[in-house]
Amino acid sequence: MLTVLASGKAAPGVTTSTWALALTWPRPLLVADCDLAGGDMVPGMLAGRLGVDRGLLSWSASARHDLPVAAAAALLAEHAVQVPERPQVSLIPGLATSTQGGSFTNRAWGRLAAALEESPASLGRDALVDAGRLVSDRGCWPVLRAADRVLLTVRPSVRSVHAAQDAAQRLRQELGDLAAVSALVVGAGPYSAGEVAKALDLPLAGVLPEDRGTAAVLSDGARLSTKAMQRSALMRAATSLAGRLAASTERSSEAAVVAG
Ligand SMILES: Nc1ncnc2c1ncn2[C@@H]1O[C@H](COP(=O)(O)OP(=O)(O)O)[C@@H](O)[C@H]1O
Ligand SMILES: [Mg+2]
Repeated sequence: MLTVLASGKAAPGVTTSTWALALTWPRPLLVADCDLAGGDMVPGMLAGRLGVDRGLLSWSASARHDLPVAAAAALLAEHAVQVPERPQVSLIPGLATSTQGGSFTNRAWGRLAAALEESPASLGRDALVDAGRLVSDRGCWPVLRAADRVLLTVRPSVRSVHAAQDAAQRLRQELGDLAAVSALVVGAGPYSAGEVAKALDLPLAGVLPEDRGTAAVLSDGARLSTKAMQRSALMRAATSLAGRLAASTERSSEAAVVAG
């Protein structure tokens, strides 16, 4: 029930795709912006519409080390903001700068990972994370390790596939294997999504189409009517992908309960 989006060094559309899935997720959702380079989710789609007093830093300052995981998870709700477009979605804004990212310790990421894992039980919300680029051993690796599913976001181009191959290698090192990892192919390019997944040796989780107008709303706060958004190729594809992801995580958690 914890789904994480990440990428290699190019900017294939992690934040845009996270927003697309968040706005179409079929159940209540907690989104956390965990990009170490500085969070783009609020300064992007919600630019100028939300204050920046709540978020990862304020949560980690309040969630003391000795706080039980369930309490730390419940506290996430207090440091989240409601997304105006979709009231059933809460967002934990990310770090304001890469300098803040540097001060967020591995231990803090570990506590956040445990709290996000607990989100369905404590808050009744699935969790979705923008993990940004996986280009060093710094970052929200504990969150990636805790994920039920990691979507490695990639464009169907040689440059982006190279970057994703590098990220996949890091994921294998940090997670031990790639069992939870699959490819999310974004936009148009010279290769098919199937070819991209094959080059990465990963299962294909889904495809989000090239749709600049809708992407500009999600990544940079451009304006578009609600109707035009709902009808757009990107949001229609996201609706179907979010539905499949939410259903499969539900099935895997049922299986986990049955397995004891
Ligand atoms: N499906 C898409 N179709 C067209 N453009 C997209 C799509 N997804 C993202 N983009 C554009 O690509 C750029 C980078 O997106 P962003 O989500 O910020 O990438 P990342 O988070 O990986 O750095 C933005 O200008 C965004 O509007
Ligand atoms: Mg981003």
